[in-house]
Amino acid sequence: MFYCIVVLLFTFFMFFSLVFYTLKNGISPMPTSEKVKRALFELLPEKLEGKKIVDLGSGWGSLIFLLARKYQNSQVIGYENSTVPFLFSLALNFYSNLHVKKKDFFTINLQDVDFVCCYLFPKSMEHLKEKFLLELKPGAIILTHTFSILGWKPKKMLEVDDLYKSKIYLYEIPLESNKGIGGEDVSQQGG
Ligand SMILES: C[S@@+](CC[C@H](N)C(=O)[O-])C[C@H]1O[C@@H](n2cnc3c(N)ncnc32)[C@H](O)[C@@H]1O
Repeated sequence: MFYCIVVLLFTFFMFFSLVFYTLKNGISPMPTSEKVKRALFELLPEKLEGKKIVDLGSGWGSLIFLLARKYQNSQVIGYENSTVPFLFSLALNFYSNLHVKKKDFFTINLQDVDFVCCYLFPKSMEHLKEKFLLELKPGAIILTHTFSILGWKPKKMLEVDDLYKSKIYLYEIPLESNKGIGGEDVSQQGG
């Protein structure tokens, strides 16, 4: 009986925690699909040595595990604020180059990050756009799928052969400060 109550309470905690963070964040911890993951890896560089790679909203860890395996000489960090997926990915993390942190990614500074991955939703992409411009260094790469960064021209784009025709976008922060993202001059643009 005691164990039944414990299991029941635990199940309730998991359920309410998932619902709470989904409402708070405006997005559920839905993992990147297998087809998108495969396509995404076509856009990723073959090698990245000594770089800092982050997944903003790392969910259950599906992307960070792949990134940590592919880039063993780079540091991979997943930021996730939802308790259940965070604990899940923490428990399954056996990679020495991967760190999973329970944090709101809007509170971290991206100034030393070389590579950003995200699968979020339009509103958070809008807020992140300002953060990317303020904090990311020239040459930093942003890889996002399904939702683009409005007003920015991707350096590369790929359409996935899935039900939703999902799109993957790769952006690069320009090396010259007077150049817009993707080589456009954005000094005249509003957004
Ligand atoms: C659609 S899932 C993507 C998960 C993973 N990146 C993947 O591609 O499989 C988005 C994740 O972002 C998390 N998230 C949303 N806003 C966040 C924030 N401000 N700080 C930390 N995590 C956040 C959500 O909890 C969710 O798990």
